[in-house]
Amino acid sequence: MPDTNGENGNGKKKRVMFIYGTRPEAIKMASLIKRMQESDVLEPIILVTGQHREMLDQVNELFKITPDIDLNLFKPGQTLNTLSSRILAQLDPVLDEHKPDAVLVQGDTTTVAIAAIASFYREIPVIHLEAGLRSGNIYSPFPEEANRKIAGQVTALHLAPTQMSKDNLLREGIHESIIAITGNTVIDALLHTVALPQKFTDPRLTELASSDAKVLLLTTHRRENWGKPMERIARAVARIAESHPEYTVVFPAHMNPVVRDVIFPLIKDYPNVIITEPLNYEEFTHLQGIADIVLTDSGGVQEEAPSLGKPVLVLRLNTERPEAVEAGTVKLVGTDEDVIVEEVTKLIEDRTHYAEMAMATNPYGDGHAAERAVAAIAALLGVGTRIPDFGAA
Ligand code: UD1
Ligand code: UDP
Repeated sequence: MPDTNGENGNGKKKRVMFIYGTRPEAIKMASLIKRMQESDVLEPIILVTGQHREMLDQVNELFKITPDIDLNLFKPGQTLNTLSSRILAQLDPVLDEHKPDAVLVQGDTTTVAIAAIASFYREIPVIHLEAGLRSGNIYSPFPEEANRKIAGQVTALHLAPTQMSKDNLLREGIHESIIAITGNTVIDALLHTVALPQKFTDPRLTELASSDAKVLLLTTHRRENWGKPMERIARAVARIAESHPEYTVVFPAHMNPVVRDVIFPLIKDYPNVIITEPLNYEEFTHLQGIADIVLTDSGGVQEEAPSLGKPVLVLRLNTERPEAVEAGTVKLVGTDEDVIVEEVTKLIEDRTHYAEMAMATNPYGDGHAAERAVAAIAALLGVGTRIPDFGAA
Protein backbone atom coordinates (compact mmCIF):
# COMPACT_ATOMS: atom_id res chain seq x y z
CA MET A 1 0.00 0.00 0.00
CA PRO A 2 1.46 3.39 -0.94
CA ASP A 3 2.06 5.89 1.85
CA THR A 4 2.87 9.62 2.03
CA ASN A 5 6.54 8.94 1.47
CA GLY A 6 6.12 6.20 -1.08
CA GLU A 7 5.37 5.98 -4.79
CA ASN A 8 2.03 7.03 -6.14
CA GLY A 9 0.64 4.15 -8.26
CA ASN A 10 0.74 5.95 -11.63
CA GLY A 11 3.97 7.78 -10.84
CA LYS A 12 2.25 11.17 -10.96
CA LYS A 13 1.80 13.26 -7.86
CA LYS A 14 -1.71 14.31 -6.85
CA ARG A 15 -2.02 18.07 -7.20
CA VAL A 16 -3.52 20.07 -4.34
CA MET A 17 -4.34 23.69 -5.08
CA PHE A 18 -3.86 25.94 -2.05
CA ILE A 19 -6.14 28.96 -2.40
CA TYR A 20 -5.67 31.84 0.02
CA GLY A 21 -5.90 35.57 0.22
CA THR A 22 -5.08 37.13 3.59
CA ARG A 23 -2.28 37.34 6.16
CA PRO A 24 -3.58 34.75 8.63
CA GLU A 25 -4.32 32.21 5.88
CA ALA A 26 -0.77 32.61 4.56
CA ILE A 27 0.72 32.11 8.03
CA LYS A 28 -1.41 29.05 8.69
CA MET A 29 -0.75 27.46 5.29
CA ALA A 30 3.01 27.99 5.27
CA SER A 31 4.10 24.88 7.17
CA LEU A 32 1.69 22.71 5.19
CA ILE A 33 2.89 24.04 1.84
CA LYS A 34 6.50 23.45 2.88
CA ARG A 35 5.71 19.93 4.03
CA MET A 36 3.80 19.09 0.87
CA GLN A 37 6.63 20.40 -1.31
CA GLU A 38 8.71 17.56 0.17
CA SER A 39 6.08 14.88 -0.45
CA ASP A 40 6.63 12.13 -3.03
CA VAL A 41 2.93 11.71 -3.68
CA LEU A 42 1.43 15.20 -3.37
CA GLU A 43 2.27 18.44 -5.10
CA PRO A 44 1.06 21.88 -4.05
CA ILE A 45 -0.12 24.50 -6.54
CA ILE A 46 -0.18 27.91 -4.87
CA LEU A 47 -2.92 30.33 -5.84
CA VAL A 48 -3.36 33.63 -4.07
CA THR A 49 -6.48 35.69 -4.66
CA GLY A 50 -4.76 38.81 -3.36
CA GLN A 51 -7.68 39.68 -1.06
CA HIS A 52 -4.86 41.27 0.98
CA ARG A 53 -1.85 42.67 -0.82
CA GLU A 54 1.02 44.01 1.32
CA MET A 55 -0.05 42.01 4.39
CA LEU A 56 -0.18 38.80 2.32
CA ASP A 57 3.04 39.35 0.38
CA GLN A 58 4.88 40.02 3.64
CA VAL A 59 4.12 36.47 4.85
CA ASN A 60 4.89 34.73 1.56
CA GLU A 61 8.22 36.53 1.40
CA LEU A 62 9.11 35.57 4.96
CA PHE A 63 8.37 31.88 4.34
CA LYS A 64 9.87 31.99 0.82
CA ILE A 65 6.65 30.87 -0.83
CA THR A 66 6.18 31.98 -4.43
CA PRO A 67 2.62 31.76 -5.71
CA ASP A 68 2.13 29.96 -9.02
CA ILE A 69 -0.96 32.04 -9.73
CA ASP A 70 -1.86 35.48 -8.38
CA LEU A 71 -5.35 36.76 -9.16
CA ASN A 72 -4.23 40.13 -7.80
CA LEU A 73 -7.78 41.23 -7.23
CA PHE A 74 -7.24 43.46 -4.19
CA LYS A 75 -8.98 46.82 -4.39
CA PRO A 76 -8.86 49.34 -1.54
CA GLY A 77 -12.22 49.65 0.19
CA GLN A 78 -13.47 46.36 -1.32
CA THR A 79 -16.89 45.29 -0.08
CA LEU A 80 -17.74 41.69 0.74
CA ASN A 81 -19.88 41.37 -2.38
CA THR A 82 -17.54 43.06 -4.87
CA LEU A 83 -14.66 40.99 -3.53
CA SER A 84 -16.72 37.76 -3.65
CA SER A 85 -17.87 38.30 -7.21
CA ARG A 86 -14.33 38.99 -8.41
CA ILE A 87 -13.01 35.86 -6.69
CA LEU A 88 -15.74 33.66 -8.17
CA ALA A 89 -15.33 35.03 -11.69
CA GLN A 90 -11.52 34.92 -11.75
CA LEU A 91 -11.14 31.57 -10.02
CA ASP A 92 -13.40 29.58 -12.31
CA PRO A 93 -11.23 29.60 -15.48
CA VAL A 94 -8.15 28.79 -13.39
CA LEU A 95 -9.84 25.77 -11.81
CA ASP A 96 -10.95 24.67 -15.25
CA GLU A 97 -7.46 25.02 -16.69
CA HIS A 98 -5.54 23.34 -13.85
CA LYS A 99 -8.11 20.74 -12.77
CA PRO A 100 -6.42 20.08 -9.41
CA ASP A 101 -7.16 16.80 -7.61
CA ALA A 102 -8.25 18.81 -4.57
CA VAL A 103 -8.47 22.40 -3.37
CA LEU A 104 -7.34 23.38 0.11
CA VAL A 105 -8.69 26.44 1.91
CA GLN A 106 -7.90 27.62 5.44
CA GLY A 107 -10.09 29.35 7.97
CA ASP A 108 -12.99 31.71 7.48
CA THR A 109 -12.31 34.65 5.19
CA THR A 110 -14.28 35.60 2.09
CA THR A 111 -11.57 33.96 -0.03
CA VAL A 112 -12.27 30.69 1.83
CA ALA A 113 -16.05 30.63 1.45
CA ILE A 114 -16.02 31.65 -2.20
CA ALA A 115 -13.11 29.41 -3.22
CA ALA A 116 -14.86 26.48 -1.54
CA ILE A 117 -18.06 27.11 -3.50
CA ALA A 118 -16.19 27.62 -6.77
CA SER A 119 -14.32 24.33 -6.30
CA PHE A 120 -17.48 22.47 -5.32
CA TYR A 121 -19.24 23.73 -8.46
CA ARG A 122 -16.31 22.34 -10.45
CA GLU A 123 -16.69 19.03 -8.54
CA ILE A 124 -13.22 19.33 -7.07
CA PRO A 125 -12.93 17.92 -3.51
CA VAL A 126 -12.51 20.67 -0.93
CA ILE A 127 -10.17 20.28 2.03
CA HIS A 128 -10.86 22.68 4.89
CA LEU A 129 -7.95 23.46 7.18
CA GLU A 130 -8.89 24.82 10.62
CA ALA A 131 -12.33 23.28 10.26
CA GLY A 132 -15.04 23.20 12.92
CA LEU A 133 -14.47 26.46 14.80
CA ARG A 134 -17.84 27.81 15.91
CA SER A 135 -18.96 30.79 17.97
CA GLY A 136 -22.62 29.81 17.56
CA ASN A 137 -23.58 33.27 16.22
CA ILE A 138 -23.43 33.98 12.48
CA TYR A 139 -23.22 37.71 13.16
CA SER A 140 -20.20 37.43 15.44
CA PRO A 141 -17.58 37.19 14.16
CA PHE A 142 -19.12 38.61 10.99
CA PRO A 143 -18.86 37.29 8.35
CA GLU A 144 -16.34 34.66 9.49
CA GLU A 145 -18.75 32.37 11.37
CA ALA A 146 -20.93 32.06 8.26
CA ASN A 147 -17.89 31.74 5.97
CA ARG A 148 -16.53 28.71 7.78
CA LYS A 149 -19.97 27.08 7.94
CA ILE A 150 -20.46 27.63 4.21
CA ALA A 151 -17.05 26.10 3.48
CA GLY A 152 -17.84 23.20 5.82
CA GLN A 153 -20.99 22.34 3.87
CA VAL A 154 -19.02 21.49 0.72
CA THR A 155 -15.92 20.02 2.38
CA ALA A 156 -14.68 16.50 1.60
CA LEU A 157 -12.02 16.48 4.34
CA HIS A 158 -12.20 18.54 7.54
CA LEU A 159 -8.84 19.19 9.19
CA ALA A 160 -10.00 20.19 12.65
CA PRO A 161 -7.39 21.72 14.96
CA THR A 162 -8.74 20.36 18.25
CA GLN A 163 -11.13 17.82 19.73
CA MET A 164 -13.59 20.65 20.45
CA SER A 165 -13.64 21.71 16.81
CA LYS A 166 -14.15 18.09 15.77
CA ASP A 167 -17.05 17.83 18.24
CA ASN A 168 -18.68 20.89 16.66
CA LEU A 169 -18.57 19.16 13.27
CA LEU A 170 -19.94 15.90 14.67
CA ARG A 171 -22.84 17.85 16.21
CA GLU A 172 -23.60 19.21 12.74
CA GLY A 173 -23.88 15.67 11.40
CA ILE A 174 -20.52 15.49 9.62
CA HIS A 175 -19.31 11.91 9.46
CA GLU A 176 -16.35 11.10 11.68
CA SER A 177 -14.51 9.38 8.80
CA ILE A 178 -13.94 12.70 7.00
CA ILE A 179 -12.54 14.55 10.02
CA ALA A 180 -8.92 14.48 11.17
CA ILE A 181 -7.64 16.34 14.23
CA THR A 182 -4.34 17.89 13.21
CA GLY A 183 -3.62 20.64 15.74
CA ASN A 184 -3.49 24.17 14.40
CA THR A 185 -0.78 24.90 11.85
CA VAL A 186 -0.39 28.35 13.44
CA ILE A 187 1.56 26.63 16.21
CA ASP A 188 3.88 25.05 13.60
CA ALA A 189 4.57 28.57 12.30
CA LEU A 190 4.93 30.05 15.77
CA LEU A 191 7.35 27.44 17.10
CA HIS A 192 9.50 27.73 14.01
CA THR A 193 9.56 31.53 14.09
CA VAL A 194 9.92 32.18 17.80
CA ALA A 195 13.16 30.18 17.78
CA LEU A 196 14.78 32.57 15.27
CA PRO A 197 17.09 35.27 16.68
CA GLN A 198 15.12 38.28 17.90
CA LYS A 199 15.45 41.37 15.75
CA PHE A 200 13.29 44.40 15.06
CA THR A 201 13.51 46.62 12.00
CA ASP A 202 11.89 49.55 13.80
CA PRO A 203 14.49 51.20 16.10
CA ARG A 204 11.71 52.12 18.56
CA LEU A 205 11.04 48.42 19.08
CA THR A 206 14.74 47.57 19.38
CA GLU A 207 15.04 50.21 22.10
CA LEU A 208 11.86 49.02 23.79
CA ALA A 209 13.08 45.41 23.85
CA SER A 210 16.23 46.42 25.73
CA SER A 211 14.48 48.79 28.15
CA ASP A 212 12.68 48.19 31.45
CA ALA A 213 9.35 49.27 30.02
CA LYS A 214 6.56 46.71 30.08
CA VAL A 215 4.72 46.10 26.84
CA LEU A 216 0.99 46.17 26.29
CA LEU A 217 0.43 44.77 22.80
CA LEU A 218 -2.74 45.83 20.99
CA THR A 219 -4.21 44.51 17.73
CA THR A 220 -7.71 45.12 16.44
CA HIS A 221 -9.39 44.81 13.06
CA ARG A 222 -12.65 42.85 13.47
CA ARG A 223 -15.46 44.12 11.30
CA GLU A 224 -18.01 43.99 14.16
CA ASN A 225 -15.69 46.27 16.16
CA TRP A 226 -15.54 48.96 13.44
CA GLY A 227 -16.81 52.36 14.57
CA LYS A 228 -17.96 52.89 18.14
CA PRO A 229 -16.56 49.68 19.69
CA MET A 230 -13.12 50.50 18.24
CA GLU A 231 -13.42 54.02 19.55
CA ARG A 232 -14.10 52.63 23.03
CA ILE A 233 -11.10 50.30 22.73
CA ALA A 234 -8.86 53.25 21.78
CA ARG A 235 -10.20 55.41 24.64
CA ALA A 236 -9.52 52.61 27.11
CA VAL A 237 -5.98 52.16 25.81
CA ALA A 238 -5.38 55.91 26.04
CA ARG A 239 -6.49 55.88 29.69
CA ILE A 240 -4.14 52.99 30.46
CA ALA A 241 -1.22 54.71 28.68
CA GLU A 242 -1.89 57.80 30.77
CA SER A 243 -2.28 56.06 34.14
CA HIS A 244 0.57 53.55 33.64
CA PRO A 245 3.61 55.28 32.14
CA GLU A 246 5.73 52.24 33.02
CA TYR A 247 3.88 50.46 30.18
CA THR A 248 4.46 51.10 26.51
CA VAL A 249 1.52 50.35 24.26
CA VAL A 250 2.54 48.90 20.88
CA PHE A 251 -0.08 48.93 18.14
CA PRO A 252 0.97 47.25 14.86
CA ALA A 253 -1.87 48.72 12.85
CA HIS A 254 -3.93 46.73 10.37
CA MET A 255 -3.80 48.50 6.99
CA ASN A 256 -7.53 49.08 6.86
CA PRO A 257 -8.20 52.86 6.98
CA VAL A 258 -11.46 52.10 8.79
CA VAL A 259 -9.32 50.92 11.70
CA ARG A 260 -6.64 53.60 11.46
CA ASP A 261 -8.99 56.56 11.17
CA VAL A 262 -10.65 55.67 14.47
CA ILE A 263 -7.70 54.50 16.55
CA PHE A 264 -4.80 56.75 15.54
CA PRO A 265 -6.20 60.14 16.64
CA LEU A 266 -7.12 58.78 20.07
CA ILE A 267 -3.77 57.23 21.00
CA LYS A 268 -1.02 58.64 18.80
CA ASP A 269 0.02 61.59 20.99
CA TYR A 270 0.92 59.61 24.10
CA PRO A 271 4.70 59.36 24.54
CA ASN A 272 4.37 55.73 25.64
CA VAL A 273 2.41 54.61 22.57
CA ILE A 274 4.17 53.17 19.52
CA ILE A 275 2.16 52.75 16.35
CA THR A 276 3.75 50.67 13.59
CA GLU A 277 2.87 49.38 10.15
CA PRO A 278 1.93 45.67 10.11
CA LEU A 279 5.00 43.84 11.37
CA ASN A 280 6.33 40.88 9.50
CA TYR A 281 5.39 37.63 11.21
CA GLU A 282 8.82 37.02 12.66
CA GLU A 283 8.95 40.46 14.31
CA PHE A 284 5.36 40.23 15.50
CA THR A 285 6.12 36.87 17.10
CA HIS A 286 9.06 38.39 18.94
CA LEU A 287 6.91 41.32 20.01
CA GLN A 288 4.41 38.85 21.50
CA GLY A 289 7.38 37.28 23.27
CA ILE A 290 8.33 40.52 25.02
CA ALA A 291 4.74 41.59 25.74
CA ASP A 292 3.44 41.60 29.30
CA ILE A 293 -0.23 41.74 28.32
CA VAL A 294 -1.96 41.18 24.99
CA LEU A 295 -5.16 43.02 24.06
CA THR A 296 -6.64 41.74 20.81
CA ASP A 297 -9.66 40.82 18.72
CA SER A 298 -7.53 38.66 16.39
CA GLY A 299 -8.16 34.96 15.96
CA GLY A 300 -4.54 33.97 15.37
CA VAL A 301 -3.19 36.02 18.25
CA GLN A 302 -5.67 34.29 20.59
CA GLU A 303 -3.98 31.03 19.62
CA GLU A 304 -0.37 32.17 19.68
CA ALA A 305 -0.10 34.30 22.82
CA PRO A 306 -1.27 31.50 25.19
CA SER A 307 1.51 29.29 23.81
CA LEU A 308 3.94 32.02 24.80
CA GLY A 309 2.43 32.26 28.30
CA LYS A 310 0.97 35.73 27.77
CA PRO A 311 -2.34 36.76 29.34
CA VAL A 312 -4.75 37.68 26.56
CA LEU A 313 -7.74 39.97 26.97
CA VAL A 314 -10.01 39.44 23.98
CA LEU A 315 -11.93 42.45 22.72
CA ARG A 316 -14.99 40.41 21.88
CA LEU A 317 -17.95 38.95 23.75
CA ASN A 318 -17.67 35.45 22.30
CA THR A 319 -15.03 33.28 20.73
CA GLU A 320 -14.80 30.27 18.46
CA ARG A 321 -11.55 29.46 20.27
CA PRO A 322 -12.75 28.44 23.76
CA GLU A 323 -9.80 26.16 24.56
CA ALA A 324 -7.51 28.86 25.98
CA VAL A 325 -10.44 30.52 27.79
CA GLU A 326 -11.02 27.21 29.56
CA ALA A 327 -7.30 26.95 30.30
CA GLY A 328 -7.48 30.40 31.93
CA THR A 329 -4.94 32.23 29.72
CA VAL A 330 -7.57 34.07 27.68
CA LYS A 331 -10.40 36.21 29.02
CA LEU A 332 -13.24 37.71 26.98
CA VAL A 333 -13.62 41.36 27.96
CA GLY A 334 -15.69 42.81 25.10
CA THR A 335 -15.42 46.44 24.06
CA ASP A 336 -16.78 48.40 27.03
CA GLU A 337 -14.25 51.13 27.83
CA ASP A 338 -14.48 50.82 31.62
CA VAL A 339 -14.35 47.02 31.57
CA ILE A 340 -11.20 47.04 29.41
CA VAL A 341 -9.49 49.55 31.72
CA GLU A 342 -10.57 47.53 34.78
CA GLU A 343 -9.32 44.20 33.39
CA VAL A 344 -5.98 45.56 32.23
CA THR A 345 -5.48 47.39 35.54
CA LYS A 346 -6.22 44.19 37.43
CA LEU A 347 -3.52 42.36 35.47
CA ILE A 348 -1.07 45.21 36.07
CA GLU A 349 -1.73 45.62 39.76
CA ASP A 350 -2.63 42.11 40.95
CA ARG A 351 0.37 39.99 40.06
CA THR A 352 -1.17 36.85 41.60
CA HIS A 353 -4.01 37.21 39.12
CA TYR A 354 -1.40 37.90 36.43
CA ALA A 355 0.54 34.74 37.30
CA GLU A 356 -2.62 32.65 37.15
CA MET A 357 -3.34 33.85 33.61
CA ALA A 358 0.26 33.75 32.42
CA MET A 359 0.45 29.96 32.41
CA ALA A 360 1.79 28.78 29.08
CA THR A 361 -0.71 26.43 27.51
CA ASN A 362 -0.75 24.74 24.13
CA PRO A 363 -4.33 23.63 23.51
CA TYR A 364 -4.06 24.52 19.82
CA GLY A 365 -1.17 22.40 18.66
CA ASP A 366 2.23 20.81 19.14
CA GLY A 367 4.03 21.99 16.02
CA HIS A 368 3.24 18.84 14.00
CA ALA A 369 -0.08 19.84 12.43
CA ALA A 370 1.33 19.93 8.89
CA GLU A 371 2.52 16.31 9.10
CA ARG A 372 -0.92 15.13 10.17
CA ALA A 373 -2.63 17.25 7.52
CA VAL A 374 -0.42 15.96 4.69
CA ALA A 375 -1.06 12.36 5.78
CA ALA A 376 -4.83 12.91 5.93
CA ILE A 377 -4.84 14.56 2.49
CA ALA A 378 -2.79 11.72 1.01
CA ALA A 379 -5.31 9.28 2.49
CA LEU A 380 -8.22 11.25 1.00
CA LEU A 381 -6.60 11.12 -2.43
CA GLY A 382 -5.79 7.40 -2.13
CA VAL A 383 -2.01 7.76 -1.98
CA GLY A 384 -1.26 7.36 1.71
CA THR A 385 -2.53 6.64 5.18
CA ARG A 386 -3.36 8.86 8.12
CA ILE A 387 -1.21 9.19 11.22
CA PRO A 388 -2.66 9.50 14.77
CA ASP A 389 -4.67 12.62 15.58
CA PHE A 390 -3.34 15.52 17.64
CA GLY A 391 -4.10 14.69 21.26
CA ALA A 392 -4.58 10.96 20.57
CA ALA A 393 -3.36 8.85 23.47
C1 UD1 B 1 -9.95 40.03 6.40
C2 UD1 B 1 -10.93 38.90 6.70
C3 UD1 B 1 -10.92 38.57 8.18
C4 UD1 B 1 -9.51 38.33 8.68
C5 UD1 B 1 -8.63 39.49 8.31
C6 UD1 B 1 -7.19 39.20 8.69
C7 UD1 B 1 -12.96 38.78 5.35
C8 UD1 B 1 -14.33 39.26 5.17
N1 UD1 B 1 -12.28 39.31 6.35
O1 UD1 B 1 -10.44 41.20 7.04
O2 UD1 B 1 -11.69 37.41 8.40
O3 UD1 B 1 -9.57 38.19 10.09
O4 UD1 B 1 -8.67 39.68 6.88
O5 UD1 B 1 -6.42 40.38 8.72
O6 UD1 B 1 -12.49 37.95 4.62
N2 UD1 B 1 -5.74 46.50 3.33
C9 UD1 B 1 -4.64 46.99 2.64
N3 UD1 B 1 -3.61 46.12 2.37
C10 UD1 B 1 -3.62 44.82 2.75
C11 UD1 B 1 -4.74 44.35 3.46
C12 UD1 B 1 -5.79 45.18 3.73
O7 UD1 B 1 -4.58 48.16 2.29
O8 UD1 B 1 -2.65 44.10 2.50
C13 UD1 B 1 -6.88 47.42 3.65
C14 UD1 B 1 -7.71 47.82 2.41
O9 UD1 B 1 -8.14 49.13 2.59
C15 UD1 B 1 -8.89 46.85 2.49
C16 UD1 B 1 -9.09 46.74 3.97
O10 UD1 B 1 -7.79 46.75 4.53
O11 UD1 B 1 -10.02 47.34 1.81
C17 UD1 B 1 -9.86 45.54 4.44
O12 UD1 B 1 -9.33 44.34 3.88
P1 UD1 B 1 -10.31 43.05 3.76
O13 UD1 B 1 -9.53 41.88 3.29
O14 UD1 B 1 -11.52 43.39 2.98
O15 UD1 B 1 -10.81 42.82 5.24
P2 UD1 B 1 -10.01 42.64 6.60
O16 UD1 B 1 -10.63 43.56 7.58
O17 UD1 B 1 -8.56 42.71 6.35
N1 UDP C 1 0.42 39.29 12.74
C1 UDP C 1 1.57 39.71 12.07
N2 UDP C 1 1.89 41.04 12.06
C2 UDP C 1 1.14 41.97 12.70
C3 UDP C 1 -0.03 41.54 13.39
C4 UDP C 1 -0.37 40.19 13.37
O1 UDP C 1 2.27 38.89 11.47
O2 UDP C 1 1.51 43.15 12.68
C5 UDP C 1 0.05 37.86 12.71
C6 UDP C 1 -0.27 37.22 14.04
O3 UDP C 1 0.88 36.68 14.63
C7 UDP C 1 -1.27 36.14 13.65
C8 UDP C 1 -1.95 36.70 12.42
O4 UDP C 1 -1.14 37.76 11.96
O5 UDP C 1 -0.62 34.93 13.26
C9 UDP C 1 -3.31 37.19 12.77
O6 UDP C 1 -3.81 37.93 11.71
P1 UDP C 1 -5.06 38.89 11.88
O7 UDP C 1 -5.17 39.34 13.28
O8 UDP C 1 -4.93 39.89 10.79
O9 UDP C 1 -6.27 37.93 11.45
P2 UDP C 1 -7.17 36.87 12.26
O10 UDP C 1 -6.28 35.87 12.89
O11 UDP C 1 -7.99 37.65 13.24
O12 UDP C 1 -8.02 36.30 11.19
